Amino acid sequence: MSTSRTQVAIIGAGPAGLLLGALLHRAGIDHIIVERQSPEYVLGRIRAGILEQGTVDLLHEAGVGDGVAQGGTVHNSIELVFKNTRHPIDVTRLTNGKVVTAYGQTEVTKDLMQQRTRLGLPTVYSAEDVSLHDFDGHTPQVRYVKDGAAHVINCEFIAGCDGFHGVARASVPKDAITEYEKVYPFGWLGVLADVPPVSTHAIVYANSDRGFALCSMRSPTRSRYYVQCPMSDKVQDWSDQRFWDEIRLRLDPEMAQRMVIGPSIEKSIAPLRSFVAEPMRFGSLFLAGDAAHIVPPTGAKGLNLAAGDVKYLSSAFIEYFKEKSDAGINHYSQRALARIWRAERFSWWLTSLMHRFPDSEGFGQKMQEAELAYLVHSEALSTSLAENYVGLPLDFAI
Ligand code: APR
Ligand code: PHB
Repeated sequence: MSTSRTQVAIIGAGPAGLLLGALLHRAGIDHIIVERQSPEYVLGRIRAGILEQGTVDLLHEAGVGDGVAQGGTVHNSIELVFKNTRHPIDVTRLTNGKVVTAYGQTEVTKDLMQQRTRLGLPTVYSAEDVSLHDFDGHTPQVRYVKDGAAHVINCEFIAGCDGFHGVARASVPKDAITEYEKVYPFGWLGVLADVPPVSTHAIVYANSDRGFALCSMRSPTRSRYYVQCPMSDKVQDWSDQRFWDEIRLRLDPEMAQRMVIGPSIEKSIAPLRSFVAEPMRFGSLFLAGDAAHIVPPTGAKGLNLAAGDVKYLSSAFIEYFKEKSDAGINHYSQRALARIWRAERFSWWLTSLMHRFPDSEGFGQKMQEAELAYLVHSEALSTSLAENYVGLPLDFAI
């Protein structure tokens, strides 16, 4: 058995773990990342791609801002479609100049991985049997097996950045954690295709009789599109032709006619879930990102929330190691959860507003229609949508 020592052991090399590692490195704090999968597997996951300004700023702070600066596309508005009619929402005007940037999570992950390789930062990929020990005291340990050999990492803190299905949250005694959850009665079928996006300046969110549809992009030549579907559907049920026919029926006629179609390069069905675990700290263990919370993808808050957690957590560790202050680590959970619940509310609201609910009565449907009609004519409600879409500030009173 080999034993090593570090200041912070990070579980998971998704965007949360990688970004935390980059920020700790810049502050001169020793860390190691332990990841269950291979680098290729991590990069194969396709997720949302809208970055709040705070997230872009954090990528620059972490020294990996060049990719988004060169490859990102700035969005000033969003397009809502209902009753087959398009309604632009001028997000930048409604938020006194704020924008979001379209840049895929896969690219963010790749930029961070390449930086780690360049800097020679330690990452253990394909780690098996990762387990957490003694995090209720001051001498926590992470153990894992790699190529048949057992390893132990002694550390001062463990950062659980291992996503919704990770080992960190699952290691906490059940009576120390409260979980809140809502599962939606549908999924999203996503398609990636090398065709020019139907809208390059704004994401399109469509509410139609046939269900929700979304048009997004990864670059001027790569589109990411989704349609709401029953969770019982299988990817094999959806030929490319069926997908293109369906999404066009859910848009306004002009956009449908303009949409360029082509072979899919990825196709997958994802469930929609809202989930929060409280608190996010258990002694020397801190949860961040999807390990602690999930939002439905409507509004693209998942990565941005993970970035917010990492900002709070890296500042807390820096305060602890550099200023010998416990204040940041003591406030971490409360500070992060205040922002998380607001983003949970926004994601739930936009999901509820835009999807067809199989169990919804006629009344629920009418409420949705009335709210959409109100939204596009009300400066107040449009402003609320816009300020949440660009991202709530990281620092607000709790
Ligand atoms: N041991 C080590 N690593 C693990 C383990 C384990 N037992 N279980 C999971 N992991 C790894 C996963 O393989 C994955 O690479 O942890 C990583 C978690 O990454 P993500 O799921 O991407 O979560 P996070 O980094 O919090 O990113 C949040 O991802 O799902 C989106 O919407 C979400 O965009 C948001 C972002
Ligand atoms: C995406 O680009 O995949 C995306 C964009 C906006 C969303 C959700 C997903 O609200």
